[in-house]
Amino acid sequence: MKKILVLSASPVKDGNTTTLVNWFAEGARSEGARVDIVATAFLKYKTTGCTSCRRCQAIKEYACVVKDEASPVLAKMAEVDVIVMASPLYFFGASAQLKLVMDRMFCLYKWDNAAGTMTTPLKGKRLILIASAYEDVGLDALEKPFVLTADYSGMSFESLLVPHAGESGDVKTRAAIRERAVELGRRAAQDE
Ligand SMILES: Cc1cc2nc3c(=O)[nH]c(=O)nc-3n(C[C@H](O)[C@H](O)[C@H](O)COP(=O)(O)O)c2cc1C
Repeated sequence: MKKILVLSASPVKDGNTTTLVNWFAEGARSEGARVDIVATAFLKYKTTGCTSCRRCQAIKEYACVVKDEASPVLAKMAEVDVIVMASPLYFFGASAQLKLVMDRMFCLYKWDNAAGTMTTPLKGKRLILIASAYEDVGLDALEKPFVLTADYSGMSFESLLVPHAGESGDVKTRAAIRERAVELGRRAAQDE
């Protein structure tokens, strides 16, 4: 059984991101996957993102030293088979509500700069990006850091990018997009 963690990062509770994530989860669960969805906009954080304290680099565990509601999410990222990041396009990038957690993934890497090495429990996992936008300009820019992060971390990468998704909630009427999201979920639940 594949374990899938979804970071759903819109502040809109029933908008396009939530709809796409729910369709994805429907597909993945139909293939027997366990899907946990975390709405990152509604977690309680003690810091605004990573504070660059670097203290995670001095401990053995792959864990952020700041203990708040991001802690179990970061721990789960190290455990699951598939990590899904879902975001609306905000000014040609991912939402701040995703970056608040994503930057704290710093603790999931250990760097030895003298030896020039990096280790991470993310290696070998799958990263999936789901993103939507009102227009058709900018989703490629949003996608780029996720492609680079996956490559850097030794993860495979796949995305579902939905331009012309309209305003929050509009995507609900798009049967073709629904089919693509469900199918992506089904594939995520299967071996690569
Ligand atoms: C703060 C903000 C910034 C946005 N910036 C863009 C943008 O640069 N390009 C675009 O096409 N849509 C932009 N949008 C529209 C959303 O990306 C789009 O409607 C998305 O599907 C909303 O997803 P949601 O319902 O999950 O929040 C923006 C919306 C907001 C609220």
